[in-house]
Amino acid sequence: MSKDTVTITDNSSGKTIELPIRRGTVGPPVVDITTLYKEMGLFTFDPGFLSTASCRSSITYIDGDNGVLMYRGYPIEQLAEKSTFLEVAHLLLWGELPTKDQLDKFTSLIRRHTLINESLKSFYNGFYHDAHPMAVMVGVFGSLSAFYHDSLDIHDAGHRELAALRMIAKMPTIAAASYKHTVGEPFVYPKNTLSYVGNLLNMMFAVPAEEYAVDPIAERAMDLIFILHADHEQNASTSTVRLSGSSSANPFACVSSGITALWGPAHGGANEAVLTMLEEIGDVKNIGKYIDKAKDKNDPFRLMGFGHRIYKKYDPRAKIIRQMCHEVLAKIGDKNDPLFELALRLEEVALNDEYFQSRSLYPNVDFYSGIIYRAIGIPTNMFTVMFAIARTVGWVAQWMEMIADPDQRIARPRQIYDGAAPRNYIPIEQRK
Ligand code: CMC
Repeated sequence: MSKDTVTITDNSSGKTIELPIRRGTVGPPVVDITTLYKEMGLFTFDPGFLSTASCRSSITYIDGDNGVLMYRGYPIEQLAEKSTFLEVAHLLLWGELPTKDQLDKFTSLIRRHTLINESLKSFYNGFYHDAHPMAVMVGVFGSLSAFYHDSLDIHDAGHRELAALRMIAKMPTIAAASYKHTVGEPFVYPKNTLSYVGNLLNMMFAVPAEEYAVDPIAERAMDLIFILHADHEQNASTSTVRLSGSSSANPFACVSSGITALWGPAHGGANEAVLTMLEEIGDVKNIGKYIDKAKDKNDPFRLMGFGHRIYKKYDPRAKIIRQMCHEVLAKIGDKNDPLFELALRLEEVALNDEYFQSRSLYPNVDFYSGIIYRAIGIPTNMFTVMFAIARTVGWVAQWMEMIADPDQRIARPRQIYDGAAPRNYIPIEQRK
């Protein structure tokens, strides 16, 4: 028996199969079960993918037991300290950090695609002013495929690249317009002399009547958060993009499905939910009550921004963001923001509580990101939109990797059927 196999014996049929073990560059070995049904007539059952690798990928690696996150082999801490969002985007998309020339070319390509078709702007008028910006994002982004017919052929590498650039470039424009619509201000066109994040801030906060200057501290803080949010291997929204893409749906439609999956409070919606939760807790004196609620199995309340499927140590992104919080608040926000103090105290209480300790529940990336956004002036209902802008790079990189993979097939999970056993049709007059 080979060392690189796992043997499964079905005790009811007496059949045995030796399944190969696959190994990545790093990370736990993976049992390849692709022949299990054909050879043994067995499926595996793993709701929520607790033990299932759904694909092969060379983009991002997470070691949750040791709090490690790497993009293309580079530790997130180094990228956060030394890189920029567009440089990281190049790395995620093309596999390598760009040379100066490559970065200039990539930046100018992104800039060339920041405008959206003028007719797309009229879509916003179909939404009430109080529409959640994520709802607007799903609708408007999804409609891009109706405009860019010259980048819909997923089998053409040129089309794929053009669609990738368009999606990354237009996302801030679409996002800022969704904000402007809710506040009733005129849309601001992209300004290509600005950085990726500077342009987003300008489109969100500039008004025609006044000069607006992008605050460099806000710009750097957001660029950093965008680096941290850019990709996170096979999370719910990325898996959704891959699942949609596996049917050969066009990339704009696939990314729009990713925006939808991101919206949920268990995923990207957590940054908005954290702020809402902190506001609800209101005061350090109420922390005990909310910790008790989070521990009560009869209460649906969870400590938002806490816990992660993979990280069983402090989320490395949260460490970086926590530090950035101190810096941003010291320079542009309210140094004594009561919500930040509340968050720090809440974290301390939870980390010393047996319930959270025994379940390895630590603050995740979203616990502190909202405090920074708040200091910058981003409204709470735009937090998840910010996440979506950054994650677009990851969605696009993962989608491109999937399409180029020769082993790619339509994703089609199976199930345990536990409905009614076969039965005969009963005419309506005989039904009870
Ligand atoms: N507050 C209270 N209890 C929790 C929490 C929490 N935030 N998270 C997990 N638990 C408990 C859970 O009740 C369960 O307890 P028990 O073993 O007694 O049944 C145990 O911890 C394991 O939780 P789980 O729900 O089985 O874990 P999961 O891997 O399915 O869920 C999670 C991961 C992130 C959805 C969950 O921790 C959660 O809901 N957290 C709050 C939402 C949040 O902050 N999400 C952002 C994730 S990071 C951003 C991103 O990448 O999307």
